[in-house]
Amino acid sequence: MKILLFGKNGQVGWELQRSLLPLGDLIALDRNSPKLCGDLTNIKGIAETIQKVAPDIIVNAAAYINVDKAEKEQNLACTINTEAPSIMANEAKKLNAWFVHYSTDYVFDGNGNNLKKECYPTAPLNVYGRTKRDGEQLISTSNCHHLIFRTSWVYGAHGNNFIRTMLRLGKERDSLKIVNDQIGTPTGAELLADITAHALRTALKHPDVSGLYHLAATGYTSWHAYAHLIFKIAQEFSFELKIQPDQLMSIPSNEFPTLAKRPLNSRLNTQKLQATFNINLPSWETPVRRTVTEILNRNS
Ligand SMILES: NC(=O)c1ccc[n+]([C@@H]2O[C@H](COP(=O)([O-])OP(=O)(O)OC[C@H]3O[C@@H](n4cnc5c(N)ncnc54)[C@H](OP(=O)(O)O)[C@@H]3O)[C@@H](O)[C@H]2O)c1
Repeated sequence: MKILLFGKNGQVGWELQRSLLPLGDLIALDRNSPKLCGDLTNIKGIAETIQKVAPDIIVNAAAYINVDKAEKEQNLACTINTEAPSIMANEAKKLNAWFVHYSTDYVFDGNGNNLKKECYPTAPLNVYGRTKRDGEQLISTSNCHHLIFRTSWVYGAHGNNFIRTMLRLGKERDSLKIVNDQIGTPTGAELLADITAHALRTALKHPDVSGLYHLAATGYTSWHAYAHLIFKIAQEFSFELKIQPDQLMSIPSNEFPTLAKRPLNSRLNTQKLQATFNINLPSWETPVRRTVTEILNRNS
Protein backbone atom coordinates (compact mmCIF):
# COMPACT_ATOMS: atom_id res chain seq x y z
CA MET A 1 0.00 0.00 0.00
CA LYS A 2 1.53 3.32 -1.12
CA ILE A 3 0.40 6.50 0.63
CA LEU A 4 1.23 10.00 -0.58
CA LEU A 5 0.88 12.78 2.02
CA PHE A 6 0.89 16.50 1.18
CA GLY A 7 1.48 19.11 3.91
CA LYS A 8 3.56 16.88 6.19
CA ASN A 9 4.69 19.71 8.48
CA GLY A 10 1.33 21.22 9.39
CA GLN A 11 -0.40 20.36 12.67
CA VAL A 12 -2.45 17.57 11.09
CA GLY A 13 0.26 16.56 8.60
CA TRP A 14 2.73 16.04 11.41
CA GLU A 15 0.40 13.67 13.27
CA LEU A 16 -0.52 11.87 10.04
CA GLN A 17 3.14 11.02 9.54
CA ARG A 18 2.75 8.92 12.70
CA SER A 19 -0.76 7.51 12.26
CA LEU A 20 -0.49 6.56 8.57
CA LEU A 21 2.80 4.66 8.88
CA PRO A 22 1.26 1.31 9.87
CA LEU A 23 -0.94 1.39 6.76
CA GLY A 24 1.90 1.09 4.25
CA ASP A 25 4.78 2.92 2.60
CA LEU A 26 4.42 6.60 3.33
CA ILE A 27 5.83 9.31 1.07
CA ALA A 28 5.42 12.59 2.93
CA LEU A 29 5.96 15.94 1.19
CA ASP A 30 5.98 19.60 2.07
CA ARG A 31 6.17 22.62 -0.20
CA ASN A 32 10.00 22.47 -0.31
CA SER A 33 10.44 18.74 -0.89
CA PRO A 34 13.41 18.36 -3.24
CA LYS A 35 12.62 15.46 -5.62
CA LEU A 36 8.84 15.44 -5.86
CA CYS A 37 6.72 18.59 -6.04
CA GLY A 38 4.68 19.15 -2.88
CA ASP A 39 3.94 22.82 -3.53
CA LEU A 40 0.19 23.26 -3.96
CA THR A 41 0.67 26.47 -5.96
CA ASN A 42 2.28 24.31 -8.68
CA ILE A 43 -0.80 22.51 -10.01
CA LYS A 44 1.06 20.79 -12.85
CA GLY A 45 3.81 19.69 -10.45
CA ILE A 46 1.24 18.19 -8.04
CA ALA A 47 -0.38 16.20 -10.87
CA GLU A 48 3.04 14.96 -12.03
CA THR A 49 3.98 13.91 -8.49
CA ILE A 50 0.81 11.83 -8.17
CA GLN A 51 1.33 10.24 -11.60
CA LYS A 52 4.96 9.40 -10.76
CA VAL A 53 4.22 7.92 -7.30
CA ALA A 54 0.94 6.24 -8.35
CA PRO A 55 -0.27 5.94 -4.72
CA ASP A 56 -3.17 3.87 -3.42
CA ILE A 57 -4.05 6.68 -1.01
CA ILE A 58 -3.52 10.45 -1.34
CA VAL A 59 -3.88 12.51 1.85
CA ASN A 60 -3.95 16.30 1.65
CA ALA A 61 -3.17 18.04 4.93
CA ALA A 62 -1.85 21.20 3.23
CA ALA A 63 -4.03 24.29 3.09
CA TYR A 64 -4.04 28.07 3.03
CA ILE A 65 -5.40 28.66 6.54
CA ASN A 66 -4.69 32.32 7.28
CA VAL A 67 -8.33 33.40 7.44
CA ASP A 68 -7.75 37.18 7.51
CA LYS A 69 -4.93 37.24 4.94
CA ALA A 70 -7.10 35.20 2.56
CA GLU A 71 -9.37 38.24 2.18
CA LYS A 72 -6.48 39.96 0.38
CA GLU A 73 -4.93 36.89 -1.28
CA GLN A 74 -8.05 35.36 -2.82
CA ASN A 75 -6.28 33.90 -5.86
CA LEU A 76 -3.60 32.20 -3.79
CA ALA A 77 -6.16 30.84 -1.32
CA CYS A 78 -8.22 29.54 -4.25
CA THR A 79 -5.24 27.83 -5.89
CA ILE A 80 -4.25 26.04 -2.66
CA ASN A 81 -7.69 25.29 -1.19
CA THR A 82 -9.75 24.71 -4.34
CA GLU A 83 -7.67 24.01 -7.46
CA ALA A 84 -4.96 21.82 -5.92
CA PRO A 85 -7.41 19.49 -4.07
CA SER A 86 -9.46 19.27 -7.26
CA ILE A 87 -6.43 18.12 -9.26
CA MET A 88 -5.56 15.61 -6.53
CA ALA A 89 -9.11 14.24 -6.71
CA ASN A 90 -8.97 13.95 -10.52
CA GLU A 91 -5.64 12.14 -10.36
CA ALA A 92 -7.01 9.86 -7.60
CA LYS A 93 -9.95 8.99 -9.86
CA LYS A 94 -7.61 8.01 -12.72
CA LEU A 95 -5.63 5.75 -10.36
CA ASN A 96 -8.71 4.39 -8.56
CA ALA A 97 -7.00 5.64 -5.39
CA TRP A 98 -8.54 7.01 -2.19
CA PHE A 99 -8.31 10.74 -1.56
CA VAL A 100 -8.46 12.14 1.99
CA HIS A 101 -8.97 15.87 2.49
CA TYR A 102 -9.80 18.21 5.39
CA SER A 103 -12.28 21.04 5.42
CA THR A 104 -13.76 23.42 7.95
CA ASP A 105 -16.85 24.55 9.83
CA TYR A 106 -16.18 27.94 8.14
CA VAL A 107 -18.15 26.61 5.14
CA PHE A 108 -21.22 27.53 7.25
CA ASP A 109 -22.45 30.98 8.24
CA GLY A 110 -22.69 29.90 11.90
CA ASN A 111 -26.27 30.88 12.50
CA GLY A 112 -28.33 29.43 15.39
CA ASN A 113 -26.78 27.30 18.11
CA ASN A 114 -27.60 23.86 16.78
CA LEU A 115 -25.04 21.28 15.69
CA LYS A 116 -24.75 21.33 11.89
CA LYS A 117 -25.07 18.08 9.94
CA GLU A 118 -23.17 17.40 6.72
CA CYS A 119 -26.27 18.10 4.62
CA TYR A 120 -26.85 21.58 6.13
CA PRO A 121 -26.56 24.27 3.39
CA THR A 122 -23.16 25.93 3.18
CA ALA A 123 -22.93 29.74 3.25
CA PRO A 124 -19.34 30.79 3.94
CA LEU A 125 -18.82 34.24 5.46
CA ASN A 126 -15.25 34.69 4.22
CA VAL A 127 -12.82 33.86 1.40
CA TYR A 128 -11.14 31.03 3.31
CA GLY A 129 -14.50 29.32 3.91
CA ARG A 130 -15.54 29.81 0.30
CA THR A 131 -12.31 28.37 -1.13
CA LYS A 132 -12.59 25.36 1.21
CA ARG A 133 -16.26 24.83 0.28
CA ASP A 134 -15.45 25.01 -3.43
CA GLY A 135 -12.65 22.48 -2.90
CA GLU A 136 -15.09 20.07 -1.21
CA GLN A 137 -17.56 20.37 -4.08
CA LEU A 138 -14.96 19.70 -6.78
CA ILE A 139 -13.68 16.64 -4.92
CA SER A 140 -17.19 15.34 -4.61
CA THR A 141 -17.99 15.84 -8.30
CA SER A 142 -14.70 14.19 -9.38
CA ASN A 143 -16.28 10.86 -8.33
CA CYS A 144 -13.03 9.60 -6.84
CA HIS A 145 -13.20 7.51 -3.66
CA HIS A 146 -12.85 10.20 -1.01
CA LEU A 147 -13.07 11.02 2.66
CA ILE A 148 -13.53 14.71 3.41
CA PHE A 149 -13.35 15.53 7.10
CA ARG A 150 -14.81 18.89 8.12
CA THR A 151 -13.33 19.92 11.42
CA SER A 152 -12.97 22.95 13.71
CA TRP A 153 -10.59 24.87 16.00
CA VAL A 154 -7.59 22.59 15.35
CA TYR A 155 -4.66 22.48 17.78
CA GLY A 156 -1.63 20.26 18.28
CA ALA A 157 1.60 20.14 20.24
CA HIS A 158 3.39 20.73 16.92
CA GLY A 159 2.54 23.96 15.09
CA ASN A 160 0.94 27.31 15.69
CA ASN A 161 -2.47 27.48 17.28
CA PHE A 162 -4.67 29.16 19.90
CA ILE A 163 -3.06 27.27 22.79
CA ARG A 164 0.43 28.46 21.89
CA THR A 165 -0.80 32.01 21.25
CA MET A 166 -2.50 32.13 24.67
CA LEU A 167 0.58 30.82 26.48
CA ARG A 168 2.75 33.42 24.72
CA LEU A 169 0.35 36.32 25.34
CA GLY A 170 -0.14 35.22 28.95
CA LYS A 171 3.59 35.65 29.47
CA GLU A 172 3.88 38.98 27.62
CA ARG A 173 0.69 40.97 28.29
CA ASP A 174 -0.74 42.62 31.36
CA SER A 175 -4.31 42.27 30.11
CA LEU A 176 -6.07 40.23 27.47
CA LYS A 177 -9.53 40.47 25.88
CA ILE A 178 -10.99 37.26 24.43
CA VAL A 179 -14.12 36.85 22.35
CA ASN A 180 -16.95 35.13 24.21
CA ASP A 181 -19.73 34.85 21.61
CA GLN A 182 -18.08 32.49 19.10
CA ILE A 183 -18.66 28.89 20.13
CA GLY A 184 -17.06 25.74 18.78
CA THR A 185 -15.13 22.61 19.59
CA PRO A 186 -11.35 22.51 19.92
CA THR A 187 -10.18 19.41 18.06
CA GLY A 188 -6.73 17.87 18.34
CA ALA A 189 -4.55 17.11 15.32
CA GLU A 190 -3.77 13.77 17.00
CA LEU A 191 -7.45 12.85 17.01
CA LEU A 192 -7.86 13.89 13.37
CA ALA A 193 -4.87 11.79 12.33
CA ASP A 194 -5.93 8.74 14.35
CA ILE A 195 -9.50 8.83 13.03
CA THR A 196 -8.17 9.27 9.49
CA ALA A 197 -6.13 6.07 9.76
CA HIS A 198 -9.07 4.22 11.36
CA ALA A 199 -11.52 5.43 8.70
CA LEU A 200 -9.12 4.48 5.90
CA ARG A 201 -8.90 0.91 7.21
CA THR A 202 -12.69 0.68 6.94
CA ALA A 203 -12.82 2.50 3.60
CA LEU A 204 -10.33 0.14 1.96
CA LYS A 205 -12.72 -2.75 2.69
CA HIS A 206 -16.00 -0.86 2.20
CA PRO A 207 -15.70 1.71 -0.64
CA ASP A 208 -19.33 2.75 -0.14
CA VAL A 209 -18.28 4.84 2.89
CA SER A 210 -16.83 7.40 0.47
CA GLY A 211 -18.13 10.88 1.36
CA LEU A 212 -18.14 13.94 3.58
CA TYR A 213 -17.98 13.66 7.39
CA HIS A 214 -17.97 16.05 10.32
CA LEU A 215 -15.08 15.20 12.63
CA ALA A 216 -14.63 17.09 15.89
CA ALA A 217 -14.38 16.35 19.59
CA THR A 218 -17.66 16.50 21.54
CA GLY A 219 -19.02 19.35 23.64
CA TYR A 220 -18.34 23.00 22.94
CA THR A 221 -16.89 26.13 24.42
CA SER A 222 -16.24 29.79 23.63
CA TRP A 223 -12.80 31.22 22.84
CA HIS A 224 -12.92 32.95 26.22
CA ALA A 225 -13.74 29.79 28.20
CA TYR A 226 -11.14 27.86 26.17
CA ALA A 227 -8.48 30.48 27.03
CA HIS A 228 -9.55 30.31 30.69
CA LEU A 229 -8.93 26.54 30.73
CA ILE A 230 -5.51 26.96 29.08
CA PHE A 231 -4.54 29.60 31.66
CA LYS A 232 -5.77 27.41 34.52
CA ILE A 233 -3.67 24.47 33.37
CA ALA A 234 -0.66 26.78 32.94
CA GLN A 235 -1.26 28.08 36.48
CA GLU A 236 -1.34 24.51 37.84
CA PHE A 237 2.05 23.99 36.20
CA SER A 238 3.41 27.21 37.75
CA PHE A 239 3.96 28.56 34.24
CA GLU A 240 4.99 32.20 34.45
CA LEU A 241 1.82 34.22 33.65
CA LYS A 242 1.34 37.98 33.94
CA ILE A 243 -2.44 37.49 33.82
CA GLN A 244 -4.33 35.10 36.08
CA PRO A 245 -7.19 33.05 34.51
CA ASP A 246 -9.96 35.05 36.18
CA GLN A 247 -8.46 38.31 34.89
CA LEU A 248 -9.07 37.36 31.25
CA MET A 249 -11.56 39.86 29.87
CA SER A 250 -14.54 38.61 27.93
CA ILE A 251 -15.75 40.63 24.90
CA PRO A 252 -18.24 40.18 22.04
CA SER A 253 -16.91 39.70 18.47
CA ASN A 254 -17.97 43.22 17.46
CA GLU A 255 -15.38 44.61 19.89
CA PHE A 256 -12.64 42.59 18.17
CA PRO A 257 -12.95 43.51 14.47
CA THR A 258 -11.08 41.27 12.03
CA LEU A 259 -10.64 41.46 8.26
CA ALA A 260 -12.61 38.24 7.74
CA LYS A 261 -15.97 37.68 9.36
CA ARG A 262 -16.18 34.52 11.50
CA PRO A 263 -19.16 32.26 12.19
CA LEU A 264 -20.60 32.58 15.71
CA ASN A 265 -21.62 28.93 15.91
CA SER A 266 -19.00 26.41 14.77
CA ARG A 267 -20.63 23.31 16.29
CA LEU A 268 -20.63 20.20 14.07
CA ASN A 269 -22.89 17.17 14.36
CA THR A 270 -20.59 14.10 14.16
CA GLN A 271 -23.21 11.32 14.34
CA LYS A 272 -22.62 10.20 10.74
CA LEU A 273 -18.90 9.67 11.33
CA GLN A 274 -19.40 7.91 14.66
CA ALA A 275 -22.04 5.55 13.26
CA THR A 276 -20.25 4.79 9.97
CA PHE A 277 -16.86 4.06 11.48
CA ASN A 278 -18.05 2.73 14.85
CA ILE A 279 -16.16 5.20 17.01
CA ASN A 280 -16.81 7.30 20.10
CA LEU A 281 -15.37 10.79 19.84
CA PRO A 282 -13.92 12.16 23.10
CA SER A 283 -15.00 15.36 24.79
CA TRP A 284 -12.76 18.32 23.99
CA GLU A 285 -11.35 19.14 27.47
CA THR A 286 -9.22 16.05 28.20
CA PRO A 287 -7.16 16.13 24.97
CA VAL A 288 -6.72 19.92 25.32
CA ARG A 289 -5.36 19.38 28.83
CA ARG A 290 -2.98 16.74 27.49
CA THR A 291 -1.66 19.01 24.72
CA VAL A 292 -1.24 22.06 26.98
CA THR A 293 0.68 19.83 29.38
CA GLU A 294 2.84 18.50 26.56
CA ILE A 295 3.65 22.02 25.33
CA LEU A 296 4.46 23.22 28.86
CA ASN A 297 6.66 20.17 29.55
CA ARG A 298 8.55 20.74 26.30
CA ASN A 299 9.17 24.39 27.23
CA SER A 300 10.28 23.69 30.80
N1 LIG B 1 -6.25 25.11 12.00
C1 LIG B 1 -7.57 25.12 12.19
O1 LIG B 1 -8.06 25.69 13.17
C2 LIG B 1 -8.48 24.40 11.24
C3 LIG B 1 -9.87 24.44 11.47
C4 LIG B 1 -10.72 23.75 10.59
C5 LIG B 1 -10.19 23.06 9.53
N2 LIG B 1 -8.85 23.05 9.31
C6 LIG B 1 -8.33 22.32 8.15
O2 LIG B 1 -7.48 21.27 8.61
C7 LIG B 1 -6.45 21.03 7.66
C8 LIG B 1 -5.10 21.02 8.35
O3 LIG B 1 -4.89 22.28 8.96
P1 LIG B 1 -3.74 22.52 10.03
O4 LIG B 1 -4.39 23.06 11.26
O5 LIG B 1 -2.86 21.31 10.13
O6 LIG B 1 -2.99 23.72 9.32
P2 LIG B 1 -1.44 24.11 9.35
O7 LIG B 1 -0.82 23.64 10.62
O8 LIG B 1 -1.33 25.54 8.99
O9 LIG B 1 -0.88 23.23 8.16
C9 LIG B 1 -1.12 23.58 6.84
C10 LIG B 1 0.10 23.18 6.07
O10 LIG B 1 -0.14 23.55 4.71
C11 LIG B 1 1.10 23.96 4.21
N3 LIG B 1 0.98 24.78 3.02
C12 LIG B 1 0.51 26.05 2.91
N4 LIG B 1 0.64 26.46 1.64
C13 LIG B 1 1.22 25.45 0.95
C14 LIG B 1 1.64 25.25 -0.39
N5 LIG B 1 1.51 26.23 -1.31
N6 LIG B 1 2.17 24.07 -0.73
C15 LIG B 1 2.34 23.10 0.18
N7 LIG B 1 2.00 23.21 1.46
C16 LIG B 1 1.43 24.37 1.84
C17 LIG B 1 1.74 24.74 5.33
O11 LIG B 1 3.12 24.79 5.07
P3 LIG B 1 4.03 25.96 5.68
O12 LIG B 1 4.16 25.62 7.13
O13 LIG B 1 5.29 25.82 4.89
O14 LIG B 1 3.28 27.23 5.44
C18 LIG B 1 1.39 23.88 6.53
O15 LIG B 1 2.39 22.92 6.78
C19 LIG B 1 -6.60 22.11 6.59
O16 LIG B 1 -7.29 21.58 5.49
C20 LIG B 1 -7.45 23.18 7.25
O17 LIG B 1 -8.23 23.92 6.31
C21 LIG B 1 -7.98 23.69 10.16
